[in-house]
Amino acid sequence: MSKSNAATVLKPVANTDRMDVGLPAKYRAQLASELTAILAHTYRLTIKSHVYHWNVVGPLFKPLHELTQEQYTALFEAADVIAERIRALGHLAPAHLADAASFAPQGKSVENVTAEAMVNDLIAEHEAAVRTMRKAGTMADENGDLVTTDMLTERLTFHEKALWMLRATIAA
Ligand SMILES: [Fe+2]
Repeated sequence: MSKSNAATVLKPVANTDRMDVGLPAKYRAQLASELTAILAHTYRLTIKSHVYHWNVVGPLFKPLHELTQEQYTALFEAADVIAERIRALGHLAPAHLADAASFAPQGKSVENVTAEAMVNDLIAEHEAAVRTMRKAGTMADENGDLVTTDMLTERLTFHEKALWMLRATIAA
């Protein structure tokens, strides 16, 4: 096999053409794009929650150390569920997650972030994720995509509960 043939064989191809499950190809492509953004949000939150778990200091150390551990564990598992839904819709799970790795809030290095600023940053990230999920969930609902609607309902439940807990941690 020539080098170019090998490259062709190894190149992953989305199996969108032969799928007939009652979800139009155009919808599945749009939703895969929305889920890709949701996956990136989920990874950003996983990384941030983990980094804050390590670096939090002060009176909020114990509650925030424990809460972030619970949350990054759940977020990591959720990333797998989201990526596998993209595959089940006939699209490839994305490898372009470059922006998921940038986690310093407001351009500051993590060493200078107070516990309260960490919580506020996580709140902003969870809220951005929730807005994206609500939009995608509405689209899935309108297209009769029950499985994605169900998955996103579960994800929204998690994030809205996470937001409550984070807010309660820094409530005066
Ligand atoms: Fe740990």
